[in-house]
Amino acid sequence: MQSPHIDVRDYTRLYQESLDAPHSFWASYAEKFLTWYTPWNTVFSGDPTQGTVRWFDGGTLNVSYNCIDRHVEAGHGDRVAYFWEGNNGDTKKITYKTLLIEVSKLANVLTERGVTKGDRVCIYMPMIPEAVYAMLACARIGAVHTVVFGGFSGEALLARIHDAECTTIITADVSARGNKTIPLWDRVSEILPACPSVHTVLVVTTTSTPVSTTEKVLDYRDAVSRADEHNNPLPLHAEDPLFILYTSGSTGKPKGVLHTTGGYLLYAAMTHTYVLDYHTDDIYWCTADVGWITGHSYVVYGPLANGATSVLFEGIPTYPDASRYWNIVDTYGVTIFYSTPTTIRMLMAQGDSFVTSTSRTSLRILGTVGEPINPEAWRWYHEVVGSGHATIVDTWWQTETGGHAIAPLPGVVTAKPGAAMLPFFGIHPVIVDETGNEIIGSGEGTLLIKGSWPGQMRDLYNNHERYLDTYLRPYPGYYFTGDGARRDADGHLWITGRVDDTMNIAGRLIGTAEVESALVLHPDVAEAAVVAVPHDLTGFSIYAYICLVAGSNTSLTRNDELIELVKTHVGSFAKPGRIIIVPGLPKTRSGKIMRRLLRKISEGETESLGDISTLAEPEVIEHIIKITNLP
Ligand code: WT7
Repeated sequence: MQSPHIDVRDYTRLYQESLDAPHSFWASYAEKFLTWYTPWNTVFSGDPTQGTVRWFDGGTLNVSYNCIDRHVEAGHGDRVAYFWEGNNGDTKKITYKTLLIEVSKLANVLTERGVTKGDRVCIYMPMIPEAVYAMLACARIGAVHTVVFGGFSGEALLARIHDAECTTIITADVSARGNKTIPLWDRVSEILPACPSVHTVLVVTTTSTPVSTTEKVLDYRDAVSRADEHNNPLPLHAEDPLFILYTSGSTGKPKGVLHTTGGYLLYAAMTHTYVLDYHTDDIYWCTADVGWITGHSYVVYGPLANGATSVLFEGIPTYPDASRYWNIVDTYGVTIFYSTPTTIRMLMAQGDSFVTSTSRTSLRILGTVGEPINPEAWRWYHEVVGSGHATIVDTWWQTETGGHAIAPLPGVVTAKPGAAMLPFFGIHPVIVDETGNEIIGSGEGTLLIKGSWPGQMRDLYNNHERYLDTYLRPYPGYYFTGDGARRDADGHLWITGRVDDTMNIAGRLIGTAEVESALVLHPDVAEAAVVAVPHDLTGFSIYAYICLVAGSNTSLTRNDELIELVKTHVGSFAKPGRIIIVPGLPKTRSGKIMRRLLRKISEGETESLGDISTLAEPEVIEHIIKITNLP
């Protein structure tokens, strides 16, 4: 059994050092974890309150080199980077040497097609090795990738391609998910005429049906087969952009979170080591899709920077049956497993026998991320999956933080079920009350972070004002997380959920405005308001309150049309669990929809609506209550 990297004495000392002496603290870790071409001039500069931070300014490095070449140069070329397992059980073993060749070839293809430093490349892929190659090939030549999760619709993909002004798309014919396939290429080809900035599309064919190629559309494998397998990684500045990843916000327009090179990679590698307690001999598996930040930091960049051996899995947890994950754990001897509360709850609902029929004795660390984990699921994860001996690590963080921000570090603290526990190095959490005053000691309020840490987002792509408005202006002097938190009497942190207009459905943030703007596209819909209502499996479910235009009738078939609109404009993961047609929405006299009231009504809490006298039409409330509570 591995002993953890640090204990409580180390943590207390190092954490204090990270806040008091950030320059020397981060310099020593940047030397320990990364290989630099040229050293930095200043570890940290700029002003976190103004959104101008720079980490390791003047230093140069290459992320792809750090994730691949240096391990090969150190004699670890034959070490497995990924055990890939496909949806239908096909397997591939990708060593660091193979990774180097595949990434170099693709980097050469991109260069031949005129992709250069700073160009944006959209990656819309299944969980196949080429998705990882694509990310690293971009990093190798300094192109900025923006990975779009395959569950997003063509419309949502288009919006991201437009916003990032992508010149290239790397995709696949289909994404295999259990018995279903997602038609990635069909979606891309439909929107392609609307993408004048795109000059190249590379399509990986995973089935026997070839994709018809053109001057613009190339077959990925065909292009790569002709490419040279040597490619020199381009030295990049620490603050050069590495990727843009879209996340939902309070308006309908997704936010392009921008991460840069040096600080991000350091933070991903360090947290992968200390929070997930990675050691050289571990077999590591994070089940996240590369379309989310967890896939970026903990499927690709963190583990590869550390030279880890990971499992990369294409399929879903219930195909061919609910033992799939645990069979994979046994096949590869997975020691660190990292997944989400919704997955855990879903597997829990299938019954213990799917778990207990497998061995899982290799498991040592069980991580969770994306949403608060309820104590019941936490205990099942611990007792049944981990047979009572694996350590549970509940990691709180965000697309914006780049890596883990609050978590029970193994060896440092015993986790309380449902608590995020303690800040990672460099993270200075502050909880404020309704009036913005800092809560010292125990108490509950809004979670802010003071100062900066290397993995912090640097900007919203092409939208600095929105960056300031969203994150830095709401509480001047602090980074606003959008979450609520509670500090208990032991000083441990508990995340209480979103405090902004976003909903966390199965660990995925969806903006209320994104769903509402899809719903109001229906000609019969005058207005829509959506709220997140607690749900046993997915944490929350979306309830959509719809107000029809005068004179239209309320037949049930309309619900399918409404759901179809959400699927087309956002993605099927954002579809409402319930649609409720109401005569009017609760609004203030100034016209603001009071979602708080809708949320309470949806939860059946009609007794505690509070003062509704400020509503423009208080009588709508009674109607809404009646309709919502119909069986
Ligand atoms: C939001 C960030 C971080 C990768 C996946 C989601 C919620 C995340 C936890 C957790 C309670 C959590 C927060 C956060 N969240 N992890 N362990 N406990 N809540 O990334 O899409 O940027 O979402 O997810 O509300 O702000 P994201």
